[in-house]
Amino acid sequence: MAAPDNKHIDEATGVSTTGHEWDDIRELNNPLPRWWLWLFYVTIVWSLIYVLLYPAIPLINSATGGVLGWNSRSAVVSDLARLDASRGERIAALRTTALEDIPADPELLAFAQAFGRAAFGDNCAACHGAGGGGTVGFPNLVDDDWIWGGTLEEIHHTVTHGIRSTPMDTRFGDMPAFVRDGWFGRAEAIAVADYVRSLSGLSGPENADLALGAQVFAENCASCHGETGQGTRALGAPDLTNNIWLYGSSREAVIETISNGRGGMMPHFGERLDPATITALTVYVHTLGGGE
Ligand code: HEC
Ligand code: HEC
Repeated sequence: MAAPDNKHIDEATGVSTTGHEWDDIRELNNPLPRWWLWLFYVTIVWSLIYVLLYPAIPLINSATGGVLGWNSRSAVVSDLARLDASRGERIAALRTTALEDIPADPELLAFAQAFGRAAFGDNCAACHGAGGGGTVGFPNLVDDDWIWGGTLEEIHHTVTHGIRSTPMDTRFGDMPAFVRDGWFGRAEAIAVADYVRSLSGLSGPENADLALGAQVFAENCASCHGETGQGTRALGAPDLTNNIWLYGSSREAVIETISNGRGGMMPHFGERLDPATITALTVYVHTLGGGE
């Protein structure tokens, strides 16, 4: 085949050029690879089938329907309805199943934990930390040290009624401000601080007056924290012997607690969250690690 004027057969490859030329640089006219061409035809055929089956060509207010009648909006609606139906059943089960029976139902337990984890992130993590690890003034909910109690029943009560919160059934306990309110002086506060720290195995200064501390403790503290400092849950008076400290273990922190008192507040959720959510939260907290 004779090449037109500016088309050449390239000597090195034997392929004809396209006739395009720039400064003596010519373009080879290689055919498209077979596999590529076939792939191209397949995509064309596929797109025709797709246009036929699914909504495709935009019209003024809608689009061509497609013979399958599928559309993304109704697909979402039916997915959501399915999700709602399955959640609805389990939420209803949370409402009707007795708290202590939930752990015996593995499926309901798993649902409660997942549901509770999400609700914890929304309602509790701001104070108790994302995983319930707590911080100064906000108790750790993962360990097995409980101020008010770690059974399902007790956790449920705490979450429903709060702590030092307004309604009648809220948990209430008072850690008095002994020095500020004039029960005893600074020297006694320091002595009893050193004494309660020693109950947790923490050592104070060498001249700590532990004998005075023990006496102050017996007279002023044992009524709430117990003879041996083991705590009294009914009063929300923490165990002072386990070296777990809500307000810090330093001498300064303990002296501050005794001098000016403490009263951590937790809101009540009974009016804010529905019963199923509170149940899920209870189960979630209970299974964090310290449930009793
Ligand atoms: C505004 C801060 C705040 C929020 C929000 C909060 N808490 Fe608390 N929570 C506290 C404080 C403070 C305490 C400790 C009170 C005290 O000193 O006795 C506490 C105590 C608890 C206890 C008792 C711990 C024990 O050792 O007995 C549980 C259980 C608990 N919270 C669960 C929750 C759950 C579940 C939520 C979410 C629904 C939540 N809290 C939301 C502040 C909060
Ligand atoms: C009327 C009951 C009551 C008496 C009496 C009382 N406490 Fe308390 N104490 C509490 C309560 C309730 C808390 C918890 C406060 C909170 O959670 O915010 C507490 C908390 C504490 C804490 C903080 C513990 C921590 O984990 O950080 C220390 C320390 C403490 N008390 C020491 C004493 C000492 C020492 C005395 C005696 C001089 C005393 N308490 C007397 C009720 C009492």
